[in-house]
Amino acid sequence: MFKDQILKDKTILITGGGTGLGKSMATRFSELGANVCISSRKLEVLEQTAEEINGKTGNAIIPLQHDVRDYKNLDALLSQIEERFGALHMLVNNAAANFISPTEYLSYKAFDTIVDIVLKGTYYTTLAVGKKWIESKTKGTVLNIVTTYASTGSGYVVPSAVAKAGVLNLTRSLAAEWGKYGIRLNAIAPGPFPTKGAWERLMPDPSFEEKMIQRIPLKRVGKHEELANLAAYLLSDFSAYITGEVVTIDGGEWLAGAGEFNFLEQLRPEDWLALKSKMKR
Ligand code: HXC
Ligand code: NAP
Repeated sequence: MFKDQILKDKTILITGGGTGLGKSMATRFSELGANVCISSRKLEVLEQTAEEINGKTGNAIIPLQHDVRDYKNLDALLSQIEERFGALHMLVNNAAANFISPTEYLSYKAFDTIVDIVLKGTYYTTLAVGKKWIESKTKGTVLNIVTTYASTGSGYVVPSAVAKAGVLNLTRSLAAEWGKYGIRLNAIAPGPFPTKGAWERLMPDPSFEEKMIQRIPLKRVGKHEELANLAAYLLSDFSAYITGEVVTIDGGEWLAGAGEFNFLEQLRPEDWLALKSKMKR
């Protein structure tokens, strides 16, 4: 889909870049020529991912240990990136935590854990990077990975839903405020994309995935390369006039859940025939 090297000479930081969708984006950005930095809590996982991606693309990929809840360590993290590559141009806030639970079973600490990683982690990183960009007059790009329920809300993942809603609002608010500096912020709202991290926590029973697929108009889960290509587009100059936008990539899942009459999909042709005589033309 893209010309090779569209991200050449761009340095990108992906939080939570050692696993799942973060790793898939890191791989794609590296294939497209970027200098990629991946951060998270588990250095060993990051090192293994970096080695794997470098083996595929031959481009530099740097593993950096960092907990997104730690604002104080951000200066050190950003200095390491500057020392290695000169400047940071793009940030992907991808690190997240989540679990399913009836909300009344949760302790306030469980709630805090998710909100601290997802919402605070995102605004800490965005604030530290944004200050540097404004000072150095860098026209940087931020991409926030949210969820479709950031807009709709969802039961049973309430801490994640409120935190992702905050991230979506941050995306829109800062797009309005920082546009004057040439800084763009956009978001991707993915539907289900199989990853070990999400599936172990959110799909403990295999029937959950099947039920989810049946609800999706396109009748399948997402492919990682589909999301990674969208992310590359939203970071690159090809989307230079798009800011404050959220792009949903969910096979139609949330709209199917929202439309009042979409349940009629269950009717067979013979059911429609039987109904015909009962309906006013
Ligand atoms: C209820 C839970 C819980 C669970 C932990 N807690 N797991 N409560 N149900 N399943 C509570 C603990 O009892 C504790 O509260 C508090 O949360 C903190 O737990 P810790 O284990 O100390 O936290 P920590 O080691 O920081 O680990 C955070 C984590 C873990 C969220 C619990 O799962 C994690 O590191 N996740 C990162 C990766 C991840 O979640 N990926 C999925 C992203 S998918 P008390 O009161 O006991 O101290 C996604 C979108 C999905 O976001 C959409 C799919 C379609
Ligand atoms: P994942 O593999 O579990 O990714 C989460 C990443 O976040 C991990 O690499 C984890 O690494 C990192 N992380 C967690 N807590 C952190 C912290 N305190 N500091 C730094 N890093 C931390 O799950 P995923 O499915 O790929 O999720 C990636 C993104 O997509 C998330 O934003 C998620 O909400 C979003 N999303 C996913 C789906 C889906 O279907 N998969 C759907 C909608 C949205 P460490 O454990 O090493 O810290």
